[in-house]
Amino acid sequence: MAGESEKSGAVRKLPRIVRTVAELQGLADEERAARKRIALVPTMGALHAGHMALVRAARARADRVWVSIFVNPTQFGPNEDFSRYPRPFEQDVALCGEEGVDLVFAPSVEEMYPTGAQTTVEVGELAKPLCGASRPGHFRGVATVVTKLLVAAKPHVAVFGEKDFQQLALIRRLVRDLLLDVEIVGVETARGRDGLALSSRNTLLVPEVRQDALSLVRALDAAEAAVAGGEDSADELLRIVRGVFLQAKSAELDYAELRDPRTLEAAPQRLCAPTLLAVAARFPATGGGPDARVRLIDNRVLHPKPGPEERP
Ligand code: PAF
Repeated sequence: MAGESEKSGAVRKLPRIVRTVAELQGLADEERAARKRIALVPTMGALHAGHMALVRAARARADRVWVSIFVNPTQFGPNEDFSRYPRPFEQDVALCGEEGVDLVFAPSVEEMYPTGAQTTVEVGELAKPLCGASRPGHFRGVATVVTKLLVAAKPHVAVFGEKDFQQLALIRRLVRDLLLDVEIVGVETARGRDGLALSSRNTLLVPEVRQDALSLVRALDAAEAAVAGGEDSADELLRIVRGVFLQAKSAELDYAELRDPRTLEAAPQRLCAPTLLAVAARFPATGGGPDARVRLIDNRVLHPKPGPEERP
C-alpha cells in the first residue's frame, strides 16, 4: 500500500507497508549500506498520541522511522483479550502517515511464528513479579516477539513507552544479555487531559467507568504527595494507594507494589532511595459480556526525602 492521506489540508505520504521478514531485512540492509539510521517503534496497533510521542522520539534519533503493528498472540493468556484487542489498521496507517513514519511492518502470525516454531526468549527474575505474576507467560511472549522484531528490522534504536515499566526493564536486560546491537530508548508516559495514561485498551473501557479508571493515576498522585510530605513507610503508602482504589466502585485492584526500579526487587519497609510504585487494576469493559474486564496499568518512581542520617 502506498499513497497519500489528507488531513487539515496537508497531503502526506502514506508509509510503505511490509508484510514479510525477508523484505524487511532486505530494506534494512539497503538502509544500513546507505549509512541511514533506522529507528523501530514496536506496537500492537490501535495507535494513539502516546505512540506518536514514541514516533517523534524515534525521528529525533534516526533517518528512517519504522513502526511495527503486530498483535502478538503469545503474550496473551487464554482468558485475556486477544480477540477483542482493537485492530483499526487503516486508521493506524493514516496516523503513521501524518507523523511521517517511513514504513509499517505488519506481518501475519504465520510470518512471525513459522510452522513448527519452538524457540522462545525467557528473561529471568525481572519477568517474575508484577504483571509477570498475574499474567503467566506474558513476558515470554513479549521477549520472544521483541527479539524477533529486532532481528527482522535490524534497527539502530528501538523506542518503547515507560507506561510498561517492567516490559522496558526486561527489554533492556534481554538486549544486554543477548548482546544485541541496538539502543533501547524509553519515553515518558503520555496522558489524557484527566491524567489517565494513554493505552490502546482505554477504548475498551465502559465510558461510565472512566472516572473509576482514574483511580490509577490518583493512587500514584496520592502516594507521591505523601512521600513529598515525608512519608517513607511502604505499608502506609500502600494503605493510601489501596484506599484510593476502594473509592472507585468498579475497580478491581490486581496489584499495588513498591519495588526497586532497576532490579524490580521488593522495596524495603522504610523507603530510602527512588522506588517504583506500580499499579494494575481491572475495570468493566465493552464487548465480551457483562463480566468483561479491561486491565490497565500505571506506575511512578517515587523519590523519598533523605532521612536525618542520610542528609549531608
Ligand atoms: O508494548 C507493546 O505494545 C507490546 O508489548 C510490544 C512491545 C509491541 C510487543 O508485542
